[in-house]
Amino acid sequence: MADLVLPAVGPNASLAERLRRVIPPPEWAVFEDDVEAILALKRRRNAVVLAHNYQTPEIYHGVADIVGDSLLLAREATKVDAEVIVLAGVHFMAETAKLLNPDKTVLIPDVEAGCSLAESITANDVRLMRARHPGVPVVAYVNTSVEVKAESDVCCTSGNARAVVESFGVDHVIMLPDEYLARNVAAQTKVRITAWKGHCEVHERFSADDVRTLRDNHPGVTVLAHPECPPEVVAEADFAGSTAAMSDFVGARRPVRVVLLTECSMSDNVAVLHPDIEFIRPCNLCPHMKRITLKNIRHALETNTHEVTIDPAMAERARRAVERMLAS
Ligand code: 13P
Ligand code: SF4
Repeated sequence: MADLVLPAVGPNASLAERLRRVIPPPEWAVFEDDVEAILALKRRRNAVVLAHNYQTPEIYHGVADIVGDSLLLAREATKVDAEVIVLAGVHFMAETAKLLNPDKTVLIPDVEAGCSLAESITANDVRLMRARHPGVPVVAYVNTSVEVKAESDVCCTSGNARAVVESFGVDHVIMLPDEYLARNVAAQTKVRITAWKGHCEVHERFSADDVRTLRDNHPGVTVLAHPECPPEVVAEADFAGSTAAMSDFVGARRPVRVVLLTECSMSDNVAVLHPDIEFIRPCNLCPHMKRITLKNIRHALETNTHEVTIDPAMAERARRAVERMLAS
């Protein structure tokens, strides 16, 4: 199962049942107070927690109402009827939720939860690229600031990048800011892609040698890679896809032994759903995702911080790019 939409959080008995497989009893004492406080705050404030697949298990399985990849979180953000959304993920994800919910309160528990891709490019860089390639559509990965989205024609995620690139029906697009995602998509399409030189600091650290060593050390292992990995890594892998696609692959194909070349919490969260599958776990931590904790989610709900605000004129332009993606 990939994008697990968890049932509304029920009484503590069912919560205990869900967490039993995730958090060993001695560790539960560390989390119990915050989990229970967050559940009560969510009820009191009519709030929901949207959590990315890279959130730690106590957040992902303990307090999240909706979990998934960037695409699912954006889609689900359009359906939320709570008054408050807490985004357990990084800043661009909270901005996307706010773009789609301008009248709701959207909170990010730590404003410093950034992303090396989002930080690699500015709105001015996009304008310069457009000037260099007049008339060429600009596809912006959702891992960008709202200012960059506002300068772009459409957004994409790793889950729909190829479809979005091909949706223009033209032979050349600009795709930014992830060079590796752009090159990995270019390998699957006839559309010529002009890329930017941004990289994910987590996925760029995997190498083709890592994959070969894994195969030597763990015979028969199935290797899944996120498309933010360098193309040489994707070429050595058995499958490349978004975090949701990797999770789907594991659920559908049920490999005996698998490695997910991505952020560390991903394996922790997927392994809970498949106790019979062996997960080999070399992984890289995303320091930005790891800024979100139970403590700061609780603090966000207690103090209404940090509220995401976007200039309305900027929001209108950026929203067009996100909505065009969701419609494609
Ligand atoms: P997904 O959209 O695949 O969840 O990826 C988001 C991300 O930040 C990966 O590093
Ligand atoms: Fe950004 Fe990479 Fe972290 Fe994803 S894993 S949020 S792309 S730095």
